[in-house]
Amino acid sequence: MTSIYSRILATGSYLPRQVLTNADLEARLDTNDAWIRERTGISERHISAADETVSMMAEQAARSALAAGGLAPEDLDLIIVGTTTPDQIFPNCATMLQERLGIAGIGAFSLEAACSGFIYALSVADKFIRMGDARRVLVVGAEMMSRLVDWNDRTTCVLFGDGAGAVILEAASEPGIIGTLLHADGRHRELLEFPGGVGRDFRNLENVYLQMRGSEVFKVAVATLGQSVEECLSRFGHDKSEVDWLIPHQANVRIIQATARRLGMSMEQVVVTVDRHGNTSTASIPLALDAAVRDGRVQRGQLLLLEAFGGGFTWGSALIRF
Ligand code: UT7
Repeated sequence: MTSIYSRILATGSYLPRQVLTNADLEARLDTNDAWIRERTGISERHISAADETVSMMAEQAARSALAAGGLAPEDLDLIIVGTTTPDQIFPNCATMLQERLGIAGIGAFSLEAACSGFIYALSVADKFIRMGDARRVLVVGAEMMSRLVDWNDRTTCVLFGDGAGAVILEAASEPGIIGTLLHADGRHRELLEFPGGVGRDFRNLENVYLQMRGSEVFKVAVATLGQSVEECLSRFGHDKSEVDWLIPHQANVRIIQATARRLGMSMEQVVVTVDRHGNTSTASIPLALDAAVRDGRVQRGQLLLLEAFGGGFTWGSALIRF
């Protein structure tokens, strides 16, 4: 029996129109452009409009991927949305996206793994295809981090942005997705969390915001991502010298540089969007991938290494022949 694999057929993305620069933040907070750029690499981020929702952004990213692949929504047979900021607690965000795309009937679910959500969603989609249970899966990472942060807290609000990215995976006779690795360690919740929800007084969320002990998260992220990319390469039998592009989660350019150093890669081989997008959590990898596909850096046949680390903690990696 021949094996079934999955490959990325097309990518898409959406960024809200409003751009918030470091200068804009400087005008309202005790912060400055030099600090933000030196400590994070961020210059600006996109912020959603008051009447926008995650499912609306997901639809735009999905339609952009469908157009890139020359597909209609009816060509899909499963939708998976990674998000930490769904429109509502339920129905799940993927069903809202399905309704927007007008394709009732196919399976649609969301998953939440904070900044690693896209790697988790991609891994699940790959398994559906390898098992023969789906042939074309829409995988979206969509996030409105601007709604979770305290806009008076300079230690967090300068870091995040909004956006959505999408890929369409389809069945193939050769990999595509060579492999994915997922990890989590639930012991460190208090280092990075949004401490509100059904189990935590969610009818009184007025003063509940994203909280992060940044420098502690930074240290764990650098160490964990370094191990994670090495584990991914060795598990799937590739050498770091073969990787054409590192497409990392975009939280902080210093974390990205540390991972590139560990792999012996020059920053020329790393897709960096954190300068323009900030940290868009689940959306950051598919946004970066789509940017590099559309500007021609990422080419068919190249070896891509994706990695993410985020709240939970969760982390993961994916090795992909594009
Ligand atoms: O995506 C999920 C995973 N998240 C991450 O990976 C984020 C990881 N953490 C980071 O990226 C960094 O730790 C931050 C960018 C959040 C912070 O950078 P840092 O170099 O770790 O700074 P720090 O938190 O140690 O703060 C240094 C100083 C402090 O002042 P004092 O106490 O030294 O006087 C802060 O109050 O910088 C101050 N500070 C700021 N100053 C100007 C913190 N935020 C700001 C700000 N503007 N926005």
